[in-house]
Amino acid sequence: MFMNNKGFTIWLTGPSGVGKSTLAQALKEKLLSQGYCVEVLDGDEIRNKLYPNLGFSKEERELHNRVVTYMAKLLSRNGVVVIVSLISPYRRVRKYARDEIENFMEVYVYAPLEVRIKRDPKGLYKKALNGEIKGLTGYDGIYEEPEDPEVKIDSSKMSVEEEVNLILQTAKKLGYL
Ligand code: PPS
Repeated sequence: MFMNNKGFTIWLTGPSGVGKSTLAQALKEKLLSQGYCVEVLDGDEIRNKLYPNLGFSKEERELHNRVVTYMAKLLSRNGVVVIVSLISPYRRVRKYARDEIENFMEVYVYAPLEVRIKRDPKGLYKKALNGEIKGLTGYDGIYEEPEDPEVKIDSSKMSVEEEVNLILQTAKKLGYL
């Protein structure tokens, strides 16, 4: 089949437990139902598959985020809609991704700390509160908020469907869809 869709990358950034993975899956389903080629690049999944022993220091996160940038760049320049779900806590590396990937939109996903602690799907906040882990992004780890993202989402105030619609409307405005 000949494809002339422009690929692009939706880069979901935000602390642990804000709902990036859920949103990524919902976006994927919606775009697939509209006939797009879609790939989700999930930070946790890529870590587990490629380098399960990689840690969470600044250097390790930056290296990992650059690897994901490269994957997204290759896929999106070949017509795929790429959904990146990655904490990506550092502005510098998000700027790097923006510069490297031709059609790029940054989506900042956030939610208040009390909401994240309540959700805690992986039990990480509980561990951080008990002092069992250190440097959890969104608790005692650094997260540099995006200054000028294309979309900002407070996941404690919107349904997943509303989030998907807002992102896709913005992608349309940007000429990506
Ligand atoms: S990063 O910062 O971009 O390299 O992170 P990412 O690749 O998205 O991986 C985040 C998942 O790693 C688990 N995890 C931690 N996250 C943040 N801080 C610390 N210290 C940490 N330790 C383990 C956790 O499952 C993250 O997944 P989410 O879904 O974001 O909570």
